[in-house]
Amino acid sequence: MYPYTLYPSLQWPLIASLHTVPFYASLLSSIVLYRLSPLHPLAKVPGPRLHKISKLWSVWICWKGRQHTEFKAMHDKYGPVVRTGPNEISVIDPTAVNAILGAGGLPKGKSWNRALNTDALDEYDEILVKNGLQLVEGMQANSHGEVDLTAWFNYFSFDFMADFVFGGGSDLLQKGRDEKGILELLDHHMITRLSHTVVFLSRNRIPGVTESTLKMRKFASEWVQNRLKMGAQMKDLWYHLTNEAEKETQPLITEVAADALLAIVAGADTTSVALTNFFWLILSNPEHYKLVQQEIDTVYGEADATDLSKHSELKYTSACLNEALRLLPPGLTGGPRQVPKGGRSISGHFLPEGTQVYVPLYVIHRNPQCFFPNTNDFVPSRWLKSEEGRIHDTKSFLAFSAGPANCVGRKLARQEMFMKFEFSFGREFDWEHWPETMRDFMTTSRGPLKVIARSK
Ligand code: HEM
Repeated sequence: MYPYTLYPSLQWPLIASLHTVPFYASLLSSIVLYRLSPLHPLAKVPGPRLHKISKLWSVWICWKGRQHTEFKAMHDKYGPVVRTGPNEISVIDPTAVNAILGAGGLPKGKSWNRALNTDALDEYDEILVKNGLQLVEGMQANSHGEVDLTAWFNYFSFDFMADFVFGGGSDLLQKGRDEKGILELLDHHMITRLSHTVVFLSRNRIPGVTESTLKMRKFASEWVQNRLKMGAQMKDLWYHLTNEAEKETQPLITEVAADALLAIVAGADTTSVALTNFFWLILSNPEHYKLVQQEIDTVYGEADATDLSKHSELKYTSACLNEALRLLPPGLTGGPRQVPKGGRSISGHFLPEGTQVYVPLYVIHRNPQCFFPNTNDFVPSRWLKSEEGRIHDTKSFLAFSAGPANCVGRKLARQEMFMKFEFSFGREFDWEHWPETMRDFMTTSRGPLKVIARSK
């Protein structure tokens, strides 16, 4: 009796698996064979076998935050168009940028609902000055030792975005620390958004990520409730998104909340990363740092440091910012576009409907066909004057993306990035290896950047 009473529950799965294993094995091998075969529509696009077979490898790379360096290595080996997944390609061919990102190019999926109009963008000066001054004060108060630029720029850009979007609600600069862990949450939220890389990485199945999404929603709902209670104290982004001036045409509150959260996520981290990268690059290249300081001293002299109208005169500083955004764009890879119905021809390859197409920013910015010579070096002068033999293809400068889905906050971001301060690297700080702390998680996650700060 013993074997029959104990084993039936095990027997059936065993028998079932004896039947299903060969079925799944043959299904899997036919999928693999098809993906590698000349019959696959992307057969002619070169790329590593592992990537052609499955997205699993890419997911692992994304998870480790190494997508940008992996894409660079693949393009170095296989050329301007690479098959990076079974139905996914990456393109760094400058002649294809418009066909992918430009008007009439490939659609992006869910996008920003209402474009930020110029009215909304023209009224942020006051908020910028307030947060700029708080940043300077906060750093001064900590200037007895080293300060971590990564953390302070995070506080600054987050407080600024909270003011800009909801008319207030964050006091990281005042406190000088992130008590509620909101920045860490934002990082987790970025990882959640990474789930676009593979369909089956559904949010609900990643422990920790689900929790952080829920917490993020909770924070967002608190901000929304506060803002609704407070009413319009100033013309913040919420005011413009809800058309508070024209009450009859108000959109749905859930839509507005989604846009407001998107603006915070899209604007806070990117600006902070851009600022940290900029300072790392100019501090590592002291000759440029000196020129930036000289320019700021000349343009501002005794003038009020909060006069933002003078920013347009800071030509060299602006060239350094562009060069920093070129070498280290905050979104190192950027999101994919999808080929619509009917398919498209891109860079000499016919791509069927549904193909995911990347234009990896870090890699295209380092393509000698776009920027030459000294492609991988920090050369701000390339933004100031043309020279014989120099290639400077600004259409391939995609730090803010391009075409209809480009960054709505680019003008705002540029204003945010000018600042009057004097820094040097912390004495014990291993500045040369700092870029190795970078991870490509939608925007760049990075380690502390320790500097000694003195106000000017
Ligand atoms: C240096 C700073 C910034 C950089 C490098 C940057 C970069 C980008 C890029 C590359 C995109 C396109 C993403 C894609 O095509 O998948 C984008 C979109 C966007 N950015 Fe920025 N951005 C910055 C600052 C800001 C700021 C300050 C705001 C504030 C409003 C903002 C708001 C947005 C919005 C709303 C989108 C559209 C998102 C969407 O439709 O999905 N960005 N940004």
